[in-house]
Amino acid sequence: MASDDAWSTPSNDALLLSLVSPSPTGVKTVGHSFHPKFTYPIFGDSEEIFGYQDLEINLRYNASDMRPNLSITYSKKFPAVGETEATDVDGILREFLPDIAFQKKKDFETGIKSPRQDWTPPGKLATTFSSHGNTFEVWKGNLADLAVKQVVKRIQILVPLFIEGGSAIDVDDPDADRWTVFFLYQKKEASSDSTSNPYVFAGYCTVYRFFHFRLPTPPLSPSESDVEKATLAQDFDLSELPCRSRISQFIVLPPFQGKGLGSRLYSHIFEQYINHAPTVEITVEDPNEAFDDLRDVADLHYLRQLPEFQALRINTAVAIPKAGAAPNNIVDRAACEAVRVKAKMAPRQFARVLEMHLMSTLP
Ligand code: ACO
Repeated sequence: MASDDAWSTPSNDALLLSLVSPSPTGVKTVGHSFHPKFTYPIFGDSEEIFGYQDLEINLRYNASDMRPNLSITYSKKFPAVGETEATDVDGILREFLPDIAFQKKKDFETGIKSPRQDWTPPGKLATTFSSHGNTFEVWKGNLADLAVKQVVKRIQILVPLFIEGGSAIDVDDPDADRWTVFFLYQKKEASSDSTSNPYVFAGYCTVYRFFHFRLPTPPLSPSESDVEKATLAQDFDLSELPCRSRISQFIVLPPFQGKGLGSRLYSHIFEQYINHAPTVEITVEDPNEAFDDLRDVADLHYLRQLPEFQALRINTAVAIPKAGAAPNNIVDRAACEAVRVKAKMAPRQFARVLEMHLMSTLP
């Protein structure tokens, strides 16, 4: 029998993702197929799948509504010997994909070949922009909307596959309405054969709303407090309460990366929350380096449009504190805080971007 190595396949290589759409001759891949960045949350730390030769795991998505279809092929499977048996690839992936992903390949392809021409992404159209001669749209919806929930369920596997340490959201959470989802779609010109829907999924972002309670000072007396609670319950729409809006998962699919689309999507979302009165702070959950870079550049660009930010300067008349010493007023702290609050940035993020700005303005 062949050695263990011959029966082992790196799971990042075995898994191939594609977006597909109908073509006059059947089904075609849109753009190029791509491999995941990580598979350890699915197949274990070694990212190896045991028990197959020539293993291929194809996860194809209908490019518009992101209906998934899984197909697993191999030339040989390891015969079970005692407790040693081939990894149950299908069984493992069932924990990460909705049931629809396991329908027969033929049924999936038949469904794709007769697309609904009037299908649009879930939620409401939030903005349209063009990039490198292509048109893109951002659609915004709430997870409590069943159409939004359906697409999120289909694409959630992208989180462990592309975000290190990322976790999927509980779409059945009773507080689902606290999640806002932004879908990024390329909108193609209607083709002359009109066989496909014009929308191609390019990425998405989820935003969670935390209530942000500020205790009244001085504290309310018990009776006043009771009155306030009763008023809250009766008169307030919870969605109007002050909140922190936290960007939780942000993905641009590999065929669309490095084209400025992530930056455009982020800036659009940021602008939405700048204009969302209840949001007092826009935060990001565990950003990685690539996201930090994108965010720093976008935040700096936004801040530099504010005259009060442009006016912030290092006060060269004050001695710069030694490393480890308490900060002094080398920058007008009250003015900084006023800009930070206006820009709804968390203190650490604002400090990072402010430093970038101040360094570039040094004489
Ligand atoms: N044309 C060409 N390149 C451009 C353009 C443009 N118009 N605009 C920006 N770029 C460059 C940027 O300068 C940047 O270059 P750099 O990498 O040398 O700094 C690079 O393209 C990336 O910027 P964008 O294209 O705007 O970003 P992208 O669309 O590739 O999205 C992201 C970045 C979200 C990190 C994407 O790579 C991704 O989804 N990765 C996998 C998942 C991930 O890591 N998500 C973030 C996790 S953190 C979280 O979820 C909160």
